[in-house]
Amino acid sequence: MASINTIEFKDEKLYLIDQRKLPGKLSIFECENFRDVEFAIKDMVVRGAPAIGVAGAYGLVLAAKEFIHLPKEEFFNEMAKSVQLIGNARPTAVNLMWAVKRMKDIMEANNDKSNEEIYKALLDEAKAIEKEDLETNKSIARYGNEIIPENSTILTHCNTGALATVGYGTALGVIREAHYSGKNISVFADETRPRLQGAKLTAWELVQEGIPVTLIPDSVAPVLIRDGKIDVIIVGADRIASNGDTANKIGTYMLSQIAKDFNVPFYVAAPISTIDFDIKSGEQIVIEERDISEVTHIDGIRIAPEGVKVYNPAFDVTPHENITGIITEKGIIKPPYVKNISRLLK
Ligand code: MRU
Repeated sequence: MASINTIEFKDEKLYLIDQRKLPGKLSIFECENFRDVEFAIKDMVVRGAPAIGVAGAYGLVLAAKEFIHLPKEEFFNEMAKSVQLIGNARPTAVNLMWAVKRMKDIMEANNDKSNEEIYKALLDEAKAIEKEDLETNKSIARYGNEIIPENSTILTHCNTGALATVGYGTALGVIREAHYSGKNISVFADETRPRLQGAKLTAWELVQEGIPVTLIPDSVAPVLIRDGKIDVIIVGADRIASNGDTANKIGTYMLSQIAKDFNVPFYVAAPISTIDFDIKSGEQIVIEERDISEVTHIDGIRIAPEGVKVYNPAFDVTPHENITGIITEKGIIKPPYVKNISRLLK
């Protein structure tokens, strides 16, 4: 499982595990150009905040390859359009915009160079973003392991594992680390309606690694928390505001609120690239609304009547007051978040 390649750039193509098909089928989705990458992000072939950031960076490498033969001005015009398309493929996870900005900065810093040299610089940057992600996750996992008690039961939501990143994962990376370090842990995984990332992806990753996991309908979590069956909750993040408010998969807010009621520690695990230092609070986070078919259908089979109205936000915002700590690659950030998050900028 550690060898899983969620994302691989090889022979000028981007290869992605097609997460829409798991766990039934392990198949690879091939991206020949940046439009394929845009589609893959939008349709959730690849998903999870860090993973879409890395995929987006390689999307711009593919765009540079496609436009390499154009005169300089046209090359830059086409690249600017690709930056827009890739950067806007999904609106909530800030890692996508963060990675796209890193690529854009590289283009600007090299604008006096040949298109070939710019292509090479972009490829190097995308590879750096990919490599850093794995190192970051290992560091998050080590810090996170400190808050996992021996013999504990952990609740998690959505998928934050190797599939949501380049490898290892964020919240699931912490769980992996705790398991490998010999702690006797077990996991409750929320199935995560409507797209079932918990059932399809988290359960798949944990079962493959032999980490004890029990899959539950999302609505079971409050009962387990109330009954003292959960020692700690760890989730990932798609965007963290400067005050610690955290956007993550829909259902996270509800968990955090119940955790607060019953004094269960509630941690967010995320790389610093998930922090949006430009926004003050969660109110400024754009929440993606996805197609109604995610709610009216399960695996292509209609489960709701034709014509019903549907509301399908993909994320919610957990207020910082509900968060015990934010586990990053530089350590665990504790409240007061405004002060302790801003320290990271120094
Ligand atoms: O819609 P998704 O599947 O991309 O949502 C993923 C999540 O909400 C994850 O918790 C988050 O991106 C962190 S992944 C390390």
